[in-house]
Amino acid sequence: MSASHPRLNTRICDLFKIEYPIVQTGMGWVSTARLTAATSAAGGIGFLATATQTFDEMKESVAEIQEATDKPFGINVRTDAPDIEDRLDWSIKSGVKVVSFAQAPKPDMVKKLKDSGVVTIPTIAARRHAEKVAEWGVDAVIAQGSEGGGHTGEVPTAVLVPQVTSAVDIPVLAAGGITDGKGLVASLAWGAEGIAMGTRFLLSEESGVPQSVKEAYFESAVTDTVRTRAIDGVPQRVINTTMVRGLESAKLLRFPRAMVNALKFRRLTQTTFPDLISEAISMKKNQDLTWSQLMLAANAPMLTKATMVEGNHEIGIMPTGVGLGVINSAPPVEMIIQGIIAEASDILSELNQQKPS
Ligand SMILES: Cc1cc2nc3c(=O)[nH]c(=O)nc-3n(C[C@H](O)[C@H](O)[C@H](O)COP(=O)(O)O)c2cc1C
Repeated sequence: MSASHPRLNTRICDLFKIEYPIVQTGMGWVSTARLTAATSAAGGIGFLATATQTFDEMKESVAEIQEATDKPFGINVRTDAPDIEDRLDWSIKSGVKVVSFAQAPKPDMVKKLKDSGVVTIPTIAARRHAEKVAEWGVDAVIAQGSEGGGHTGEVPTAVLVPQVTSAVDIPVLAAGGITDGKGLVASLAWGAEGIAMGTRFLLSEESGVPQSVKEAYFESAVTDTVRTRAIDGVPQRVINTTMVRGLESAKLLRFPRAMVNALKFRRLTQTTFPDLISEAISMKKNQDLTWSQLMLAANAPMLTKATMVEGNHEIGIMPTGVGLGVINSAPPVEMIIQGIIAEASDILSELNQQKPS
């Protein structure tokens, strides 16, 4: 265990009852029970991705984490899931202590969780969103800059985080392109009280992503990602593969061609037709997309699964932050966390030393 600099003991450590102010965020298909438990056991806090799980799978994964560690962990939920209320009620009863959200939460959700003693931490991409959720009573926010992986906003991390920390009094975690101890110290300088990382943990030993997919991340440079709406209508950062370029150029597809494409993907991803349609209908209620976009968007979670779980490179939908360009190995989570704490502690001690005159 590295000696942690006292400056790293922030309100985030008290809020989550953890040793280090390091969060492994919820990542659909990627932050499984194994990865989540490993992060929490190593002194950070892991978030289980439940947005891509059935209710039964979620229950099994929560039990698996509780079996593996008695340290605090969180779950990341999809706020527009049809059974969201049942999932939250079950989580409260089952001792889940922290909830993060795959989309914007709703004020009544925040209240319900808060009234039951559950800590809530949404991800926001703009200062005004941070102010709004702080008013609703959330306990902390993850301020994610545009460099981040998956769905992401347009304000860069170095601009967003100081903006948000100046605007709200609750603890802020910095996210978006952060991978190391330097990023942790920079985040403290911006007024944040810790870091939240996706891509760094995706590229760990405990993440279940197939080795061939991890290799594709290692081989990609900082400039090999793109923030695109072409996958599901909402800006998302992914590796800029041939498939993504194809979707981008097909953005204005008319309905019949989009339908043909969706059906082609359906075969590749083995999504059932009723599942595809019911996902499209639920998305139509929540997003302002054309039917053409919806047909592709409805299949987006399955496109991601085909790559990130099944290793299907033909599909090639790989969400990522720009930080992938500086990562070239997938060590155990404990090594990642200890490395970040050791590096940040050294930098903080050095910064504290008086320069010789
Ligand atoms: C593969 C992948 C899947 C993701 N899935 C989700 C998700 O299901 N829910 C969510 O709230 N955020 C999701 N995100 C965003 C991450 O939780 C996190 O906010 C982001 O990765 C942080 O940026 P970084 O990757 O640069 O560290 C995902 C990101 C990646 C890379």
